[in-house]
Amino acid sequence: MEERFVSALNREEDSYSELSLRPQRLKEYIGQEKVKEKLGIFIEAAKKRNEALDHVLLYGPPGLGKTTLANIIAKEMKGSLKITSGPAIERAGDLAAILTSLSDFDVLFIDEIHRLNRNVEEILYPAMEDYALDIVIGKGAAAKSIRLDLPKFTLIGATTRVGLLTAPLRDRFGVLCPMEFYNENELMEIIIRSADILETKITEQAAFEIGKRSRGTPRIANRLLKRVRDYSDVKGQGVVDLEIAKSALELLDVDKEGFDSIDNKILVAIIDNFNGGPVGLETLSYFIGEELDTIEDVYEPYLLQKGFILRTPRGRVATEKAFKHLNRAPGKKGFDNKQCTIFDE
Ligand SMILES: Nc1ncnc2c1ncn2[C@@H]1O[C@H](COP(=O)(O)OP(=O)(O)OP(=O)(O)O)[C@@H](O)[C@H]1O
Ligand SMILES: [Mg+2]
Repeated sequence: MEERFVSALNREEDSYSELSLRPQRLKEYIGQEKVKEKLGIFIEAAKKRNEALDHVLLYGPPGLGKTTLANIIAKEMKGSLKITSGPAIERAGDLAAILTSLSDFDVLFIDEIHRLNRNVEEILYPAMEDYALDIVIGKGAAAKSIRLDLPKFTLIGATTRVGLLTAPLRDRFGVLCPMEFYNENELMEIIIRSADILETKITEQAAFEIGKRSRGTPRIANRLLKRVRDYSDVKGQGVVDLEIAKSALELLDVDKEGFDSIDNKILVAIIDNFNGGPVGLETLSYFIGEELDTIEDVYEPYLLQKGFILRTPRGRVATEKAFKHLNRAPGKKGFDNKQCTIFDE
């Protein structure tokens, strides 16, 4: 995949600074009000009853704060956090070893949980439901199954592809948390908070402008802030103001919508090469040379959410907003709003 500045995917440079920029408590966590309210209540209730918090599934596009929330939940529950990921657990025995190493109220975080191996996944069912581990000893007719008790732990699963989770796994999560893109004001708040931690002076207007171009994603907001800060250190007067922010963002090739060349490439392809659509995702991916999964997970969600493209039964369609954004005249390219029914997967 081409190196992409506004990609929501974690990049190595983020990992160092993300640690310091991560909010530590639920109160510090900006946005995701519904998720926060839900978790706040369930955490308090679990603590009052001296029980483990029910298992939590966090799902949504990358960079919206799933790992951050898992850290916060562990802190609020005063348990320790174990982090692993779906592809990292290869055999059922690996998961059994992890589960038996937990203590009461610990939080086990499984990132990319949709990529768990099926036989590994089956270990999770009794573990989640009854805090139990079923082990088979012996072979053939002599084989018998024994049940071990597990500590009262909380499983937090995170995924960008909730649709790929099997029904039995999904049904065992008591708390479902859909993560949403952040609005401009929330992103402004996040940027002001991060600037404070980075000891950078920034005006509200500048923070708002950076937030507006961050594709609803805190990870991108923090990354843009750092690059704008570099620019400001060289060209500015010690404060990141609107003018500095705008010139820096222009230099970084991040346009007014927060789109970079690849977003625009997707829109241009749909409009210029496929008459505004509909075009199948596979064709589109082949055409612009990006992997299908990457388009679906990383690029498309924001374009959909902002109403630049639509998902229809026959493929992706560019909307009037996209035509305007690229200065194309709608209609001439055969675009007809009435032709598309919105298809919600
Ligand atoms: N609500 C928030 N308030 C403040 N900062 C946030 C918030 N959510 C995320 N961040 C910042 O964004 C960065 C990325 O968040 P995080 O790593 O939790 O995302 P993620 O959803 O786990 O991403 P991925 O899907 O790639 O694993 C964090 O380091 C943190 O600094
Ligand atoms: Mg994460």
